[in-house]
Amino acid sequence: MKRILYEDLETALKAREAKIAVLGQGYIGLPTSLLMARAGFTVYGFDVNRNLIEGLSRGETHLRHEKGISELLDELKERNYFPTGDLSELYGSDVVLIAVPTPKGKDGPNLTMVLSALESALKIVRRGGLIVIESTLPPRTFYDLIIPTVESNGLRVGRDLYLAYCPERALPGKLLHELVHNFRIIGAIDEKSGRLAKILYESFVKGGIEVVDPLTAEMVKLVENSYRDVNIAFANEVARMCEVLGVDVRRVRELANRHPRVNMLVPGIGVGGSCLTKDPWFLFWASQERGYRPNLIKRARELNAEMPYHYADVLDDVVRRLKGGRSGVIAVLGSTYKGDVPDPRESPVEPFVKELIKRGHAVKVYDPLVRSSFGGEYAPDILEAVEEADAVAFVTDHTEFKMIDLRKLRGAIRKEGPVILFDGRLLFDPKEAEEAGFIYISVGRPPKILEGSLITIEGDE
Ligand SMILES: NC(=O)c1ccc[n+]([C@@H]2O[C@H](COP(=O)([O-])OP(=O)(O)OC[C@H]3O[C@@H](n4cnc5c(N)ncnc54)[C@H](O)[C@@H]3O)[C@@H](O)[C@H]2O)c1
Repeated sequence: MKRILYEDLETALKAREAKIAVLGQGYIGLPTSLLMARAGFTVYGFDVNRNLIEGLSRGETHLRHEKGISELLDELKERNYFPTGDLSELYGSDVVLIAVPTPKGKDGPNLTMVLSALESALKIVRRGGLIVIESTLPPRTFYDLIIPTVESNGLRVGRDLYLAYCPERALPGKLLHELVHNFRIIGAIDEKSGRLAKILYESFVKGGIEVVDPLTAEMVKLVENSYRDVNIAFANEVARMCEVLGVDVRRVRELANRHPRVNMLVPGIGVGGSCLTKDPWFLFWASQERGYRPNLIKRARELNAEMPYHYADVLDDVVRRLKGGRSGVIAVLGSTYKGDVPDPRESPVEPFVKELIKRGHAVKVYDPLVRSSFGGEYAPDILEAVEEADAVAFVTDHTEFKMIDLRKLRGAIRKEGPVILFDGRLLFDPKEAEEAGFIYISVGRPPKILEGSLITIEGDE
């Protein structure tokens, strides 16, 4: 494979004539490939998942709910975007991007896929070419594992190969928009690697780019998500306290947030998504291994992970009290981890549904964006989900749910007796829900029914 000179690579990137291979065509790899192809590069999208590649070759994408992706695929496929499962087509790539999963294992990160992709990248990239890792890496991985792996292949970083870490932070549901408009961080091993990576990303990023060292880039990505997780955990902790103390978290939050320096988030049934549920652990493990145990981050992660089990417990208890100890039919509305986001990965709804099933309830799940039902019966529409329900659990804050007419919903349920509405995302006004004919229970509010009429909620009329 002929070596490319640094100046020639820089020129090819500026002219958008470089041949780019992207390893991994999932949530991140596919839209990034398409954006670089739209910018004019020739992009080969490689994935080990044959079905995915066959679908893309036919013009079908698993990300069809992502705005703009299907259209870009139609426009660019076989023009300058080529999905492939054949690594040999990628030989001689000037640039290789790695966007494969880096999941968490039980007691540490699982880096097998990123290392395997790196081995592939080293086989296909030209000498003098650029490898960029987009997959999330635990802190120090770039220095302690990536560079040694490259050098153990007889390559000198900064001479035979340029290397950068560009962590991805885009949100499913808004991928194309965020990939273009978010501020990007490039962690580069040396000045030349940073310059090459910056030229590459400038071809489609409008949100600004900062080049730093790889360790800073690793930390920033993980700190951002840990910050979110800890702040959500704080709101969840307040909600749990309100439940036992007899006060509604809604009112507490509303008033506390009037303070000029307080901005408490909305508590809810839990936190999900592929990144928020693992990034704090990556930070925790890496720091603990080196002598500092970040307990706040660990406890926040645990508290958020406990939430769906806690509310399955609350709902199970309320349903059984209403039904003289028997289990019931529960309609779960929403399965994605976040409202209007078509991504069910690591959704807190999964443990919630599984726990309810384990406790003997019949669970029907409806989501307007995905078909995941986590072992419950999938309902194709909301009316079918709720018609037999003893309880309706709103667990994802989709816009469709926020707009719902609760009276009509109650009317669609063929039950004479009381029906419970569990509000896992604080979407509804308790009074309105009760006036519509529901027994209303929610996050951050003591379920009145548990104590009969004995428990009053401070602030309620
Ligand atoms: N999805 C997100 O919201 C998001 C956001 C920020 C960062 N990230 C990070 O981006 C990385 C990729 O995440 P994703 O959500 O795109 O994952 P994904 O599961 O949607 O896609 C990854 C793809 O990589 C493929 N793959 C696995 N091993 C491979 C290999 N050796 N060679 C080629 N392909 C291979 C898989 O088949 C899969 O299609 C992860 O490290 C993740 O933490 C994801």
